[in-house]
Amino acid sequence: MRLLITGGAGFIGANFVHYWARRHDGDRLVVLDALTYAGNRASLPELDEGRLRFVQGDIRQQADVEALLREEEIDTIVHFAAESHVDRSIAGPEHCVAVNVLGTLSLLEAARCVWLGEDRVAHRFHHVSTDEVYGSLSAGQPAFTETTPYAPNSPYAASKAAADHLVRAYHETYGLATTISNCSINYGPYHFPEKLIPLFIVNLLEGRDLPVYGEGINVRDWLHVDDHCRGIESILAAGSAGELYNVGSRNERGNLEVVKELCKAVDVAFAADSDLATRFPAAPPAHGAECASRIRFVRDRPGHDLRYAIDPSKLEKELGFAAEVDFASGLRQTVQWYLAHETWWRAILARGSYREWVDRQYGDAEEASA
Ligand SMILES: NC(=O)c1ccc[n+]([C@@H]2O[C@H](COP(=O)([O-])OP(=O)(O)OC[C@H]3O[C@@H](n4cnc5c(N)ncnc54)[C@H](O)[C@@H]3O)[C@@H](O)[C@H]2O)c1
Repeated sequence: MRLLITGGAGFIGANFVHYWARRHDGDRLVVLDALTYAGNRASLPELDEGRLRFVQGDIRQQADVEALLREEEIDTIVHFAAESHVDRSIAGPEHCVAVNVLGTLSLLEAARCVWLGEDRVAHRFHHVSTDEVYGSLSAGQPAFTETTPYAPNSPYAASKAAADHLVRAYHETYGLATTISNCSINYGPYHFPEKLIPLFIVNLLEGRDLPVYGEGINVRDWLHVDDHCRGIESILAAGSAGELYNVGSRNERGNLEVVKELCKAVDVAFAADSDLATRFPAAPPAHGAECASRIRFVRDRPGHDLRYAIDPSKLEKELGFAAEVDFASGLRQTVQWYLAHETWWRAILARGSYREWVDRQYGDAEEASA
């Protein structure tokens, strides 16, 4: 296969590149990424030019994308590029819509022009979407299936829903061979430290508080990023054009529960390795405190969805998908990854814009917990 991976320098895209390179020796991987604040070339593996090419560019530059599709004879697009942070979409919905909706439209147009011209080419356009398009569940409601009506609640979720509709329309109208995956919240290596798990790991290592929204009762279905890549792999291998597949691991957990498990994992890592107290002297276990002592409750996010849960039965039954990473070991591995890759996350923390954003977002931590 000759794959174009948009957003391949972001969290899931980069993990996908690592995953695919490990498992598909002969395939050509072309990453197209604008390198926004969330993109990071250092997340990509070192591979020779015959296997991996990195192109810095915007998915909205249709002519450039068309040229790239032709030049590289791409047969498969895996579309990850997006503005992916709900809080940022609340602060700036226009930009989120411009990238997620118009960007996807531009990419679909490029694919249509190149793949559905006079010489039709065998192809696949896969859109990586989210469970947030389905809205929120109350406790006890059945998990989202592929027939759950869309009811997005945040500008981010609405933009992903709109992009999904466009992808579907390109299949129905033009016959583009599309698939969509709606997956639950991911965790794992190379995760930009503004999302809960990586933010809290680096906050602990730096001796900062852990700002939990509201009472920490929001429930998410936590999926290890490798299992997400496994799900996309099964859809690319055997998924039917025009179909939508939910990817999840039946691993529902409240935010506070996740934070407490994470705190325990960091406490255990420090207990097992005395060097960590020297490397991270501000971390609570370096001076005899438990990580959980740094939990603070902060003002809730507006329109914060209570619960997401994914029913992955269709992917399991039709395509043989099975999530393999259990949450406790996935979390331990993730903590170990951040401990071992300090240079990677320190480079992000050193950017002024990072600290400015995090402080603005969670600046009322002390106030809300008082
Ligand atoms: N993170 C999750 O838990 C999760 C869950 C479900 C679905 N998703 C979806 O998966 C995809 C990847 O998510 P992520 O967490 O890796 O996001 P991310 O924010 O870490 O990465 C997004 C990447 O897209 C790039 N990008 C942004 N705008 C671009 C543009 N105009 N042109 C080219 N590149 C651009 C960025 O530079 C970055 O590398 C997104 O589409 C997201 O909606 C994420």
